Amino acid sequence: MASLACSYLGIPLRTPIILSSSGLTESAEKIKKAADAGIGAVVVKSLFEEMINYEVGAAVESSDYSEAGDYMLQYTKEHTLTEFLNTIEKSKNSVDIPIIASINAVNQKEWVAFAKRFESAGADALELNINIIPVTKTLTGADIEQKYFNIVSAVKAAVKIPIAVKISYHFSNILNIVHHLEGIKADGIVMFNRFYEPDIDIDNLDFKSFPVFSNSDDLRHALRWTGILSSVKNHIDISVSTGVHKSSDVIKSILAGADTVQICSTAYQKGLGIINELNSGIEQWMQEKSFDTIDEFKGLMSYNTIKDPAMYERSQFMKYFTNHG
Ligand SMILES: Cc1cc2nc3c(=O)[nH]c(=O)nc-3n(C[C@H](O)[C@H](O)[C@H](O)COP(=O)(O)O)c2cc1C
Repeated sequence: MASLACSYLGIPLRTPIILSSSGLTESAEKIKKAADAGIGAVVVKSLFEEMINYEVGAAVESSDYSEAGDYMLQYTKEHTLTEFLNTIEKSKNSVDIPIIASINAVNQKEWVAFAKRFESAGADALELNINIIPVTKTLTGADIEQKYFNIVSAVKAAVKIPIAVKISYHFSNILNIVHHLEGIKADGIVMFNRFYEPDIDIDNLDFKSFPVFSNSDDLRHALRWTGILSSVKNHIDISVSTGVHKSSDVIKSILAGADTVQICSTAYQKGLGIINELNSGIEQWMQEKSFDTIDEFKGLMSYNTIKDPAMYERSQFMKYFTNHG
């Protein structure tokens, strides 16, 4: 009988499928539904410091009492944080799957403060949702990377629970970033976040959003980097995010070396019934291939393991064009 049991960030999971941070994990009620549907763990919706600042800023601007700004900011921050803490506490009381809290802060002080509060509320682990968009030309790649390392070091020093870092693929050398993250004892890397991307509405000269949901084709970035990273990393766990829609996407990710995968778009589009479909699909494939455990096929097709590692390095279409005229 195939077993989907695995481990992520040192925590045992019944299946490698995690429901990623989004509106689907914003309340204890929704988290309970995901647990009942067979998910391995959940990452709670991110607490965005920027959103709190923005909301307070808008309220202060529209009021005549701008001196009340500081008070409102502290009040709103505490109020929002309390809602998130309640979600974690309630979830811990109603489900027996790991609850991972997620933070996206602006100031390093708040990254640390939020992390400590989440740990006290009972979160099993933290996911640091870090994304820095450069808008000044003098800021170097190394400067930005250092900001990542500073945040992770500061949080790591403040809490005992494991920490995963959720990143984008916009780095010159992801392997080097992860090497540094391992040096400062990050426990996991989530590859990759998919962001809100602005699009331009040419009829109304306005902004709109590109489609927020992914499809299976979007797995390609995470698959390449998981395949390569899993061959050179030391202790850090890899969780694949973006483009996991089918059981074959989960299997490919694990063959490339992922420890877990995260789903979001497919759960929005198909509902939580997809979790059972994915779990059954993996079990069926494992039975067909005579694998009893996840570990038996994890990394079987990583950069180091395959005969032709160039499969992961190739980035030009030379052969494709030769064969397709
Ligand atoms: C509506 C929506 C809300 C999201 N909210 C968050 C969030 O709060 N924090 C976060 O780290 N990622 C957030 N994400 C990104 C997802 O967690 C996920 O990384 C991304 O959608 C890629 O996975 P997918 O291809 O399975 O959708 C959100 C995505 C969507 C579509």
